[in-house]
Amino acid sequence: PSAIDIAVIAGDGIGPEVTAEAVKVLQAVTASDGLELKLTDYKLGAEHWLATGETLPESTIEALRGHDAILFGAVGAAPGDTSIPSGLIEREMLLKLRFSLDHYVNLRPSFLYDGVPSPLANPGTIDFVVVREGTEGPYVGNGGVLRKGTPHEVATEVSVNTAFGVERLVRDGFRRANERPRKKLTYVHKHNVLVYAGHLWKRTVEAVAKEFPQVSVDYLHVDAAMIFLVTDPSRFDVIVTDNLFGDIVTDLAAAVTGGIGLAASGNINMDRTAPSMFEPVHGSAPDIAGQQKADPTAAILSAALLLHHLGHHGAATKIESAVAADIATRDASSPRPTSAIGDAIAQSL
Ligand code: NAD
Ligand code: IPM
Ligand code: MN
Repeated sequence: PSAIDIAVIAGDGIGPEVTAEAVKVLQAVTASDGLELKLTDYKLGAEHWLATGETLPESTIEALRGHDAILFGAVGAAPGDTSIPSGLIEREMLLKLRFSLDHYVNLRPSFLYDGVPSPLANPGTIDFVVVREGTEGPYVGNGGVLRKGTPHEVATEVSVNTAFGVERLVRDGFRRANERPRKKLTYVHKHNVLVYAGHLWKRTVEAVAKEFPQVSVDYLHVDAAMIFLVTDPSRFDVIVTDNLFGDIVTDLAAAVTGGIGLAASGNINMDRTAPSMFEPVHGSAPDIAGQQKADPTAAILSAALLLHHLGHHGAATKIESAVAADIATRDASSPRPTSAIGDAIAQSL
C-alpha cells in the first residue's frame, strides 16, 4: 500500500511543541498497524515571516496540494507583539490556506471525556459536533475603511454568504446528523437581526431538511445558544453555523468539555479537490510557549481526525481510545510536561 503522505506545518509558539507529540503518536500507530508514513515539514508562520518576509507563497500552496493531508499546529504572535502586523499571519497564511484549499467544513467535535472536570456544575453527557462554515462569512476580508483616524472614520466588514456555500455546508451538517444516533441538527444564527444572511441560512436549512426526513431540526439564535451551551449542553447533537459564530461557539464548547487543550478540529474539503487540514482549535498560546506546559491532546486528536478523513478508521480509533484511557488517569494537581503526555499515548499504542 502507498504511504500516507502528510505535510506538517508546526507554526509558532506551542504549535511545534504539540505537533511533535501528534507526529510521535502518528508514527507509533502507523508502525503498529503496518502503514507507511511520509512526513514533510513546512516552515510557515510568524517566526518564518520575521525571518523571510514570506507569509504563504503560491508555490508553497501548490506543493501542499501534492500531499494527502496537512497536520497544522498553530500560528500567530503574542497579542501586543508589535514586530508583526496584527492578524497578518492569521489572514494571509491560515485563512488563505482554508480558502485556497476550499476547506468549507470546519469540523469541531465536543466530547466530555470520563475523568475530565468540566467547569459546569451539572454538565451531563456532552457529545456534539459543530459544523462551522470555513470559507465565507465575515472572514473573507470584504471590508474597508473611510476617513481613517478621524472622528468620522467608517469601518465595514461585510459578511459574505452564498447560496452555494451555505447549501453545501448545511447539507454536510444534515449528513452527519443523519449518521448519528440522535439525528438532531441545531442551526445557530441571528436571523432576528441579520436578515439577509440569516434568511438565506433559514431557507437553506428548510429546503435541505426535506432530503433528511429522519433528522429533527432546531433553531437557536446564537445568544440563546450560548445559554444552553452552559445550562444544558446535552441538548446538542450537530450544530451548523457560520464562520464567525462557529469560531466563538467552539471556544466555549472547548471550555465546557474541560479545556481548549483537548479540542480538535478538521478543515475539510469534502469534495477532495485538495488536501484537508487538521489542527487543534487553540492558538499559539504565547503565554505558555517553550515551557512544555501545553496539553498536546487536541493536536493528537486532530491527527486522529486526519486518519479518519483518509479512511484509516482503525488507526484513528486506536488513537482515540488511547487518548480516552490516558485522560482517565490524569490528575489536575500534577500536570505532566507536553512530551510526557505524548510519550504515554504513543507507548500505549
Ligand atoms: P490561544 O488559544 O493561543 O490561548 C488562549 C488561552 O488558552 C491561553 O491562556 C493559552 O495558554 C491557553 N491554551 C491554548 N492552548 C493550550 C494547550 N494546548 N494547553 C494548555 N493551554 C492552552 O488564543 P489567543 O491567546 O487568543 O491567541 C494567541 C495567538 O494565536 C494569536 O496570535 C492568535 O491570533 C493565534 N491563534 C491561532 C490559531 C490557529 O493557528 N489556528 C487559533 C487561535 C488563535
Ligand atoms: C481558530 C482561530 C482562527 C479563526 C484565527 C486564528 C484566524 O481562532 O482556528 O479558531 O478565527 O478561525
Ligand atoms: Mn478560534
